[in-house]
Amino acid sequence: MLNLPNTLIALLAAAGSVYAQLPRPLINYPLGLSPVFDEGFFAGTVAPAATIVQWAPGKAPQACVNELAWNNCLSGRAVVYNVTYADCPTPWIMCRCDNADLSIYQMTNFFGRMPVHLRSTVRHVIATHGEGCSAYAITGPDDGDIVMQGNCNTQSVWLHETGHQLDARGLGTGVGFSTSPTFINALWNDTCVADDYGNTAPWEEFAQMTVVSQSHTIYGYIQQQQYPGCFNSQLNALETTFKTSHLTYGGTCHTRIPATPTVNAVWKRGRIDRRGGKRVGPCKFDHLVGGHKH
Ligand SMILES: *[C@@H]1O[C@H](CO)[C@@H](O)[C@H](O)[C@H]1NC(C)=O
Ligand SMILES: *[C@@H]1O[C@H](CO)[C@@H](O)[C@H](O)[C@H]1NC(C)=O
Ligand SMILES: [Zn+2]
Repeated sequence: MLNLPNTLIALLAAAGSVYAQLPRPLINYPLGLSPVFDEGFFAGTVAPAATIVQWAPGKAPQACVNELAWNNCLSGRAVVYNVTYADCPTPWIMCRCDNADLSIYQMTNFFGRMPVHLRSTVRHVIATHGEGCSAYAITGPDDGDIVMQGNCNTQSVWLHETGHQLDARGLGTGVGFSTSPTFINALWNDTCVADDYGNTAPWEEFAQMTVVSQSHTIYGYIQQQQYPGCFNSQLNALETTFKTSHLTYGGTCHTRIPATPTVNAVWKRGRIDRRGGKRVGPCKFDHLVGGHKH
């Protein structure tokens, strides 16, 4: 155990105390969040204007090479773009495998519909081909990427994955908020979790509460609860900590995670070294509703 990275030690230390408090007995959204919230996100948000510039083939950021290779994207199939939104002069460098289910326009649109300060917790945005939709977030202190595997064409999935980055880096201390006493006490104090997926781990519940909280920010109330108020302590803890700093629309970016170094976009299948990153997921999403093609 001597050489474990600090993040892993922290995770192991936290695990004993947090798992004891899940599952919670009640589920506020039995079919998950998408059927309740995605239509509202579609109607209630717009992405800022953006310019998309595709890189010449052959180069990609290191983090994109790592994740595309690991996702069985064939060497030479990386497509890289600078996506520059009107509210931030520094582009987000996004990468797709050329057979990814999401287009760069969809990626730009879903990502752009989130507040700029929430977007700023993400370094690279990556999409690959997959059956259905699963996704994961890479949350180590030197990471910050989100990866969409398959047709993740709903805002709730994008908010969930970005919620993992908010959890990991929102406080700027590298400590996960979802395993802090503030959130764990709130979770323990509440009678329910958001949905079944939230019941699997505190960080998954935090990510789901990020989705709920973003809808709350937009509409000012919480839709269709089975047990009204049953997760209010968590919602309150999340919003007290992050609503003004990350979940409110408007403004411009002020901190961005630097892109990873540009390298040759060539790899040997299965030979990629992915050590050092802490991956949360893959998060599985069912009952996805809505989704806009664009
Ligand atoms: C992409 O953005 C980076 C960082 O701003 C910049 O250095 C690079 O020249 C841009 N590439 C293209 C193809 O526009
Ligand atoms: C715990 O729940 C009660 C009401 O059920 C609430 O008044 C109190 O603020 C909550 N405490 C925390 C830490 O969330
Ligand atoms: Zn997740």
